[in-house]
Amino acid sequence: MAFQVRIIQGDREEEFEIEQKLNLYDIINQKGFKLTAYCGGEGTCKKCRVRLQPAPELKSIEKEIFSEKEKEQGLRLACLHQVDRDLEVKLDTEGDINVLTGTAEVEGRLNSGWRLVEFETGKPQLDDQRSYLTRYLENTGSNTIADKVIRDIKALDSKVQKLKGVCCQEKLTELFSATAKKSLLGVAVDIGTTTLVLYLYNLETGEKLGVDSMYNPQKEFGADVISRIQFANKSRENTEKLQQVLVERLNQGLLDLVDEAGARVDDIYRIAFAGNTTMLHTLLGFDPIDLAKSPFIPNFTEGLDLSPELIGLKINSEAELLVLPSISAYVGADIIADLLATGVGENQEYELLIDIGTNGEIALGNSSEIYTCSVAAGPSFEGSNISSGMAALAGAVEKFAIRPDSFDYQTINAARPRGICGSGLLDLIAGFLEIGVIGPKGKFNEMDKMPEFWQERFAEDEKEVIIFSEEAAVNKISLTQKDIRQLQLAKGAIRAGIEVLAARLDIKLAEIGKVYLVGGFANYLDPDNTILTGMLPEIFEGKIIQFGNGSGAGASLYLLDRDLAEIVEQLKERVKYIELSKDADFQEKFIEELNFPGN
Ligand code: FES
Repeated sequence: MAFQVRIIQGDREEEFEIEQKLNLYDIINQKGFKLTAYCGGEGTCKKCRVRLQPAPELKSIEKEIFSEKEKEQGLRLACLHQVDRDLEVKLDTEGDINVLTGTAEVEGRLNSGWRLVEFETGKPQLDDQRSYLTRYLENTGSNTIADKVIRDIKALDSKVQKLKGVCCQEKLTELFSATAKKSLLGVAVDIGTTTLVLYLYNLETGEKLGVDSMYNPQKEFGADVISRIQFANKSRENTEKLQQVLVERLNQGLLDLVDEAGARVDDIYRIAFAGNTTMLHTLLGFDPIDLAKSPFIPNFTEGLDLSPELIGLKINSEAELLVLPSISAYVGADIIADLLATGVGENQEYELLIDIGTNGEIALGNSSEIYTCSVAAGPSFEGSNISSGMAALAGAVEKFAIRPDSFDYQTINAARPRGICGSGLLDLIAGFLEIGVIGPKGKFNEMDKMPEFWQERFAEDEKEVIIFSEEAAVNKISLTQKDIRQLQLAKGAIRAGIEVLAARLDIKLAEIGKVYLVGGFANYLDPDNTILTGMLPEIFEGKIIQFGNGSGAGASLYLLDRDLAEIVEQLKERVKYIELSKDADFQEKFIEELNFPGN
């Protein structure tokens, strides 16, 4: 029996037939609509909300999470329903995610190795018997050729004319008439678990020509690396799917980026990828399952120089596809790129780097030694396990100023509040700590000990503070005891990670000169509130630098200076990784650091 399905999202509407009962979450993803989902369709994140007409019977979890009005409006969780009748599906329009593309100004060397040489062959003479190819090589300062040059020579109208040659170091890779338009472009890519950021550069001048950012399309198969790995583990096809959607999106992004710059994808000769180890595995189509199983052995951690054809990247066929080296399964090339960009590990003074993306990675060191670790911190900041949490999309409250008798807030795109993203959550909890709504143990204080304004905002069962009700674009936005606990777990893990690294280096926290907050979430966190909640110690006051997208900046440096490949391999040798899951000191510190300061 066939069913008619119509999906509507903003201006986009699609109607089609399905031949058999299928899961609605899968259908929405297959059709390429945007659906918020953090658990990859496992039914646990409660974020894949859709409006269905006719509305199917409510599952028990839906009875709990939706208000009476929402139930009547047909609100349901897509992944819990099979399509077994004709159905109309309405999806919220997802605004553009707030992607961190900017970085602090970083200075690097320009030595991409690529150059465009214009020359005249010169008329052959009886007393000059050099072959045409010899002339091309000599004029371009090359001593070898790419296969493509043979085809290019055959295609020339005349062998004696003004020509242009594209060279990579001593290799001539392309030859064509001097009248042809040609740019030598490079792209640095930061593959985040949630977002992709692409930076376009002129390889000859180092000028930044454009930046583009987009969702990582793999997010439809799970919000974090573990759910992606679980998805890949189900079948070889799933692993291929992760690679395929990623490469397709990259190809589209590259096309948009060069279009904007008035160039062509064929002008891209060098592309450098930084990202966590799982993302780089999926880029190359490796099964990432070993990354999630003890002893956590990656397929590769080396820096790689490959051909774009290997993964189906539609750029110049002679281009260099570079993958920055990683350190371990959970400290990836994004951290190597962060270190490159911030210079942490280059100076005599100890410096600390905290990158909170979908995972939290920490590096601490100086020019002699660098220790790194990875902690589970991302989900809370990304909103996936917070009752009113959401990613940094339009309508997410990104800032709160909490006072005893009022509060101010700021949402992304100044839209009606829809939920709270990581930086907003930190502000909210820090504010509540200050005015006594929450005590140092993370529990809501007794009603008579908190300001009246906030007492009145508690739900009847006193288990949650309702921050927004009618003002919200959703039923309500609130903070529960469980949400506070989630933040405590995240901040406790980060703080304990820092303490363990310092202990391993045998230094005091006071010896740390600079603290870099990098990455999609860390960069937006209010430094004062990181201290107020105890995520960072008070002694870091005045030392915190919000750096921006360190991974993108590091990938850019790597793209533009080919000598960095060797330097980065040496850097990698100095970086020691501590696996915290087995570290007794970490467990002890983590328990100690769960409470907020002040007890
Ligand atoms: S609950 Fe449906 S995707 Fe998570």
